[in-house]
Amino acid sequence: MTSTEEAPSSFWDELTSPLNLVLVAVILYLVYKILRSHFESEDTTAAPPPPPMKKLRKDLTTAELKKYDGTGSDGRVLLAVNGVIFDVTRGKRFYGPGGPYSAFAGKDATRGLATGSVSADDKEWDDVSDLNADEISSAKEWEEQFREKYDIVGRLLKPGETPNKYSDDETEDKKEL
Ligand code: HEM
Repeated sequence: MTSTEEAPSSFWDELTSPLNLVLVAVILYLVYKILRSHFESEDTTAAPPPPPMKKLRKDLTTAELKKYDGTGSDGRVLLAVNGVIFDVTRGKRFYGPGGPYSAFAGKDATRGLATGSVSADDKEWDDVSDLNADEISSAKEWEEQFREKYDIVGRLLKPGETPNKYSDDETEDKKEL
């Protein structure tokens, strides 16, 4: 080794070099900030969760259903499958404004779900009688999935149909729709 060459620095020398000490300090500070914000968001400073939404029990026409696309003041989102209207507000990240399935919000989603197309049109009534067997069974599967996950609101009314009367009695929910 010549006198101009420096002795190879040890790992400890590297670690305690001024630049690295500054970097370590920055990292520790950032970790502290992240941990603090994490714990803060979990305790008292967090806003209380919104009160649960009142259950809606109502038969609606396609035009009435349209109002429930998540942009209303209460933010409620409804959609219909096979003539049954579901309250999908809990799935707002899917159906709410800007969500991947927002095209279904406030709409009869039967055709879209049956055919795998994230779209719904503004027909007053779509009788979906042109769907093939696979599409019909696909729509049926979606309906079953929705029945398990979401509350039923009522039936989607064909033009001229009259709405059912629902009482506030919870047992009414068990009524077959
Ligand atoms: C590349 C294709 C697709 C991918 C990767 C995809 C992925 C997903 C994922 C990850 C979820 C969330 C599941 C969960 O967290 O429970 C979801 C939900 C959903 N997808 Fe898709 N999807 C696709 C295509 C479609 C198509 C074509 C439709 C219907 C036309 C569709 C309808 C839905 C619906 C309705 C939900 C929400 C279900 C609920 O409310 O729980 N998806 N999708």
